[in-house]
Amino acid sequence: MTEPPRPPIRPPTGRLGILTPGMGAVATTFFAGCEAVKRSLGLPVGSMTQMGTLRLGLRTEHRQPYIRDFVPLAKVTDLVFGGWDIFPEDAYQAARKAGVLDRELLEQLRAPLEAIRPMAAVFDSAFVKNLHGPNVKRGPTKLDLAEQLRADIRGFLQRNELERCVMVWCASTETYLAPGPAHASLAAFEKALRDNDPSIAPSMVYAYASLMEGVPFANGAPNLTVDTAALQELAKKQRVPISGKDFKTGQTLVKTVIAPMLKARMLGLNGWFSTNILGNRDGEVLEDPGAFRSKEVSKLSVLDTILEPELYPQLYGDFSHKVSINYYPPRGDNKEGWDNIDLFGWLGYPMQLKINFLCRDSILAAPIVLDLALFSDLAARAGMSGIQEWLSFYYKSPMAAPGLDPEHDLFIQQMKLKNNLRHLMGEELITHLGTEYYED
Ligand SMILES: NC(=O)c1ccc[n+]([C@@H]2O[C@H](COP(=O)([O-])OP(=O)(O)OC[C@H]3O[C@@H](n4cnc5c(N)ncnc54)[C@H](O)[C@@H]3O)[C@@H](O)[C@H]2O)c1
Repeated sequence: MTEPPRPPIRPPTGRLGILTPGMGAVATTFFAGCEAVKRSLGLPVGSMTQMGTLRLGLRTEHRQPYIRDFVPLAKVTDLVFGGWDIFPEDAYQAARKAGVLDRELLEQLRAPLEAIRPMAAVFDSAFVKNLHGPNVKRGPTKLDLAEQLRADIRGFLQRNELERCVMVWCASTETYLAPGPAHASLAAFEKALRDNDPSIAPSMVYAYASLMEGVPFANGAPNLTVDTAALQELAKKQRVPISGKDFKTGQTLVKTVIAPMLKARMLGLNGWFSTNILGNRDGEVLEDPGAFRSKEVSKLSVLDTILEPELYPQLYGDFSHKVSINYYPPRGDNKEGWDNIDLFGWLGYPMQLKINFLCRDSILAAPIVLDLALFSDLAARAGMSGIQEWLSFYYKSPMAAPGLDPEHDLFIQQMKLKNNLRHLMGEELITHLGTEYYED
């Protein structure tokens, strides 16, 4: 079947705004990192859009452009930042408090960071129990709060003389919420906004405002947010790209590499025990069982989808999977994760694999925010809308069409992403078949 010709991708003219609900450790590490890159004070390590290449054509052609040269992406030097938070501190103060980046580097970036002041947040302590801050909007209904956010977005665009922006959720993880009647359709959702329905979380109010303004939305936390029929309907109606959920950074990043290895070699699994210590504000919020439940669901789903126990009951039919996060203040943002994997091989003989990852949460998350922002903007300019499955690469719990299993394997996700870019640019997809090199 031949596809209709793609409409041309609109060029990334002018500057691009990036708005983050939440200006904590991840968002400020991201803002500061981009400002550092703009001034050649550091490299955007971990960002596929900035550091990565992709192969075009045959291996013998040696065509390997940088992704940033191959697809028309906004440049880091053209990014403008804004955000919302329940705390009134500007991005410089918030970055100091988060304690991720060195003071010396932050001093050099003080002026641009001080210029990023949080707009008043839409917040509901029923969804984030362990935080209390004064910088919060008031309004009679959730619809009214959404209107205030829409006015914020328009004001940000006007003040900065921008035509485009994207929104990336970098705020705290909200308490676990199962999809209910208010999320089933756009009509039900809008009625629920008017009725102040308790099942409409603040993140959904931001997402609604974003989509109504035609602004792409990416969800860095495990909250439901745009993973609902209602907001997917709105994304399609407004022709806006959406993606989520939950940045794939430390332990789950490793899990989605090791689990496909076990499966590729048909090695069995008896159990996988994962635990973490984390001392930042995210860790504090996740002390609340409701917020941890959101994270746990996001972290647990990975193994079942990769290992497919229903297809391989002898290998994966009965494994135990435990995940815990312990709030331990002395470590700050420097998370330490331990994985103990009980696997088995030939004739069922048991083996163990231990992984001890001493990572830095926000250092791993910041490049993901950048890539998601740039790719979401690209998708919008290319006329793509609704769920962007090709961005699964960046998420712990990737959104997929109803009835479709998400893809968790990091390398399949990477292939999907790169093939999507080739497809967008009218280049041949790479199948890795390789027979062409051996034909007479
Ligand atoms: N760092 C990682 O590796 C990683 C990985 C996956 C997901 N995440 C998620 O990213 C999010 C941000 O992480 P972080 O380490 O920056 O956390 P953080 O606690 O440092 O920052 C979150 C900020 O959001 C603010 N906030 C909470 N509710 C808000 C609302 N309704 N509107 C506006 N602001 C609000 C808080 O005041 C806080 O400043 C968390 O949800 C976290 O679970 C982080």
